Amino acid sequence: MNLSPQWLDQLRGRLTLSSIIGRSVRVEKAGREFKACCPFHNENTPSFTINDVKGFYHCFGCGAHGDAIRWMTDHRGLGFMDAVKELASEAGMDVPAPDPKAAKRAEKRDSLYDVCAAAQDWFVQNLQGVEGAHARDYLAKRGISEDIQTKFGFGFAPDGRGNIAKALDGFAADKLIEAGLLISVDGKAPYDRFRGRLMIPIRDARGRTIAWGGRILGDGEPKYLNSPDTPLFDKGRTLYNIDNAAAASRQTGRLIVVEGYMDAIALAQAGFEDVVAPLGTALTEEQIGMAWKMADRPILCLDGDNAGQKAAMRAAQRALPIVFAGHSLAFASLPQGLDPDDLLQQSGPTALERVLSDSVSLVDRIWQYELAQSDLSTPESKAALKAALMGHVQTIADRDIAGFYRSELMDRFYSVVRSKSSFLQSTSRSTNFTKSFSAKGKWQSGKSSAPLQVSKDQKNLGVVEAVLSGFLRIPKALSLHGEALCALDCQNEELSRLRNYLLEYLAQGQPLDHDHLLSILRQEGFGEVSSRLLRADGLHFSFSRDNDIGESEQEQLDQAQRDLQEVLQIAVAQPRITASLRRVSAKLDNEPSDEAFMEFAKLQEQRRNFSQRISDLAERARAR
Ligand code: UTP
Ligand code: MN
Repeated sequence: MNLSPQWLDQLRGRLTLSSIIGRSVRVEKAGREFKACCPFHNENTPSFTINDVKGFYHCFGCGAHGDAIRWMTDHRGLGFMDAVKELASEAGMDVPAPDPKAAKRAEKRDSLYDVCAAAQDWFVQNLQGVEGAHARDYLAKRGISEDIQTKFGFGFAPDGRGNIAKALDGFAADKLIEAGLLISVDGKAPYDRFRGRLMIPIRDARGRTIAWGGRILGDGEPKYLNSPDTPLFDKGRTLYNIDNAAAASRQTGRLIVVEGYMDAIALAQAGFEDVVAPLGTALTEEQIGMAWKMADRPILCLDGDNAGQKAAMRAAQRALPIVFAGHSLAFASLPQGLDPDDLLQQSGPTALERVLSDSVSLVDRIWQYELAQSDLSTPESKAALKAALMGHVQTIADRDIAGFYRSELMDRFYSVVRSKSSFLQSTSRSTNFTKSFSAKGKWQSGKSSAPLQVSKDQKNLGVVEAVLSGFLRIPKALSLHGEALCALDCQNEELSRLRNYLLEYLAQGQPLDHDHLLSILRQEGFGEVSSRLLRADGLHFSFSRDNDIGESEQEQLDQAQRDLQEVLQIAVAQPRITASLRRVSAKLDNEPSDEAFMEFAKLQEQRRNFSQRISDLAERARAR
C-alpha cells in the first residue's frame, strides 16, 4: 500500500490526539498541551505530554514519542494498516484503494519537475535576449531591481504558438501539455499557452518551479494568465513565495498575506520578505492552514477597494471554522484604491508598517463588517445584527473559542443597542416617571432627601448589584423587564457581562427558574459573581434580601417584582439625569436664563426624588 504523505498529513490533521489517548489514559490539560502519566513506563508524576497542534506525544521520562498512528501501533499494538484504517474511519476519511499506478504517477511527477525547470531556464534566457527587450523595459519602469528579478526568477515567453515545443524538444509534447505549457484542443496542433508575457515562476516550499503566472505587457486581457492545475500545481494549496517567506517569517514571527504576485514581490523588494500571496483566488482553508504553519496570526493585507474588503470577509469566514487556540488572522486595511505595491511606491515602507501595525483582529473584523451592514433603527434590524453575529459564532468548531466569541460579540452588541435604545431616550425625558411617582404621592411628600451614607458612585453600583441580584432571585422578571435591563448602565465590566448573559438566557427561551438559571450561570463562568450578588451585603430591597422570597407568599413576591421594576427604572434613568444636570449647569454658567434655571431645578428635584424613592424602598424592606 502506498499512502501519500499528503493523505497521511490530512488524516493527522483531522484527529485530536489528546482525545484518542484520553480513551485509555487519564489526561489533563496543562496550558496549550495535555499531560498524563506515561503509559509506556511506570511513573507517578506526569512527564508524558500531548500536543494537539503538532499532533504528537512525547515522554520526557522515557523518550516515547510519536503521532496518532504511532500511538495505535505502539500502545494498542495494531499493525500499521489497521491503525490507519481505524483512525481514518474516526476521521471520516476513506483509505485510498491500493493503486498500482501510484508509483508510476510519482515517477511521472518527478519528470514534470524537470520539464518545469527546463522551461523556467528558457523563459529566463528569453528575458535576457533580443526578444526580451520590451519586458526588460516594463520591469525597469515598474522599478523592479535586477536583484529581485533574479531572485524571483522573472522570465519572458515570446509571442508565437510553436516556440516552447521547439525550445524544449528533448521533452515529449504530452509532457509539455501535462505541465500546462502547451494547450491541446481536439483536432488542432498543441500550441503555447503563454505568448508575449512576462513570466513569474510559482514555486513550491522546496523552491521547485511548479507553475507560472504570465503578465501581459501593458494593457490587455487577461492581465494575468496562470498555469492550469497540473499534477504539480494545485492553486488552492499553493502560496506564492512560500519558499522565501517560510525562512523569513521564522525570523520575524510574522506573515503578511497580499493579493497578488506583484504585491508580494514589491514587498520583498522593500524589505518585507515574510510575505505570501494566494493565486488569483480567495484564500482557501488549506492556504490558511499553510500560513499557520509559519505564523500564529497571519496579517491579511488586501486592497482597500470593495473587492479587497469582500475577499477579507471571505477569508474571515473560511478561518472561523478552523481557528484553534492561539491561531487566528489579522486584517490590515489599505487606503481606498491602493494595493500594497501602490502604497509602497507612493509612500514607502513606513506607510506600510503603519498599515500593518493598525491591523485588527478577526473578531474586530467580523464585528465591524456586520455592524456596518446594520442601522439598528428597529427591533427587527437589531435582531438581524444579532442573528448575523451568532451565525458567525455557530461556524466556529472550537468550543472554547466559540464561547469567547459569543460573549465578546454579545457584549459589543448589547452595548451599541443600549446606546441606541429608544427606551433610554423615552426615560430620559422622564415625564412618565414623574407622573407615576407623583401619583403614588411620594414625590411631594416633603421629606428632604436623606443624606447618603455612601458616596454616589458606590451607591449607584450598589443599586445595580441589587437589581441584578433581583433578576437572579426572580428570573421571571426577565421576560417583563428585558428592555429596561438592556438599557441599564452596569458601571463595570463584570456586571455588564452578567447582564448580557441574562438577556442571552432570556433570548434562548431557557426556563425562567431560579435553580436552573443558577446552574447554567455556574457552567458559563458566572458562578462567583452570582453568589456574591445573592449574598448582597450592600443595599437591601424586597427583591434582594438574602432570605428566601415567599414561595408560599404570592403577595410578597408580587411586591418584590414591583419594587424590582421601579428600582430598575430609576437605575436606568439616574445616569441620564446626572448627564443632563451637568449639561444644564454648564449652560447656566455660560448663559443664565430663567428657562435654564427652571430646567436645572426640575432635574435636581427629579434626582432628589429618585434618591428618596430608593431610600424608601430600602427602608421598607429593612422594616419587614
Ligand atoms: P490585480 O488586478 O490587483 O493585479 O490582481 P496586481 O496584483 O495589482 O498586478 P499589477 O500590479 O497590475 O501587475 C490581483 C491578483 O489577481 C490575480 C493575480 O494573482 C493578481 O496578482 N489575477 C488578476 C489573475 O489571476 N488574473 C487576472 O486577469 C487579474
Ligand atoms: Mn498592482
